[in-house]
Amino acid sequence: MADLDDLRDGTDFTGGETVRSDFPLKGLAGQDWGMRARLSRIFNPADGKTVMLAFDHGYFQGPTSGLERLDRSIVPLVPQADALMCTRGALRTTIPATNGKGIVLRASGGPSVLKELSDEEITVGIDDAVRLDAAALAIQVFIGGEHETKSIKNMSTLVDQGQSAGIPVLGVTAVGKDMVRDARYFRLATRIPAELGASFIKTYYVEKDFETITSACPVPIIIAGGKKVAEKEALTVAYRAIDQGAAGVDMGRNVFQSEHPAAMLAAVRGVVHDGLTPDEAFELFEQLSH
Ligand code: 5RP
Repeated sequence: MADLDDLRDGTDFTGGETVRSDFPLKGLAGQDWGMRARLSRIFNPADGKTVMLAFDHGYFQGPTSGLERLDRSIVPLVPQADALMCTRGALRTTIPATNGKGIVLRASGGPSVLKELSDEEITVGIDDAVRLDAAALAIQVFIGGEHETKSIKNMSTLVDQGQSAGIPVLGVTAVGKDMVRDARYFRLATRIPAELGASFIKTYYVEKDFETITSACPVPIIIAGGKKVAEKEALTVAYRAIDQGAAGVDMGRNVFQSEHPAAMLAAVRGVVHDGLTPDEAFELFEQLSH
């Protein structure tokens, strides 16, 4: 039986309105509590920024360089990331359930590098996403690609399922070989998925007018690292993207293909969360590499 002894009446009823904390992420304050809670496992609530570690490349590339053995290359890096972007196969087989990070679950796929990449389908059911405690679902959007409409339809279906389960969707702008990678293209390719319900968008940094992309997108933008370049260059791109309105990075190859992945991830964190300049972050990288 419930304990009925010493039931005390409340007395602290003074004060005005209930205190409401502002939600730090652009365009998402009106989302339901579960959505905001999940987003807060991806973006650090203290600064509204994220360092996501992306290692989902195997879903269309197989065991690319640096991802041959996820247990050896990725698992040691997990504590330094805010969130992990991966497939459910990688998650279930290799990532400890004790990791405590926001899981951004790759939810699209189909074609391998041998086929037309834009011909994707949704590859994860919402029930399994809930079972896996996904903090978000990630899906490619191929603006200008051969299967543009299908990819938008897939994303919209995922948004419907995600909204009903309280799971945000990350729209990943996938750039076909024929697309011009400029601000005009990326304004289009980020705005469309945001208009159609994605909660945050992953895109690429461009040197000219990147701030027009972040400005015109009503939800947070994070950048992909892209192909492996020198560490200083990757840190400079991260710095400029954050400086010009990005809410974080989702970096893969520039971390796990570095000679010193843990040092690189720490340097990226320095840029995103501590405001380090590229020079300061590179100095940190060099210190931690020895
Ligand atoms: C694959 C992806 C990758 O996760 C994304 O490209 C990030 O990785 P990288 O920094 O290596 O570009 O979405 O389609």
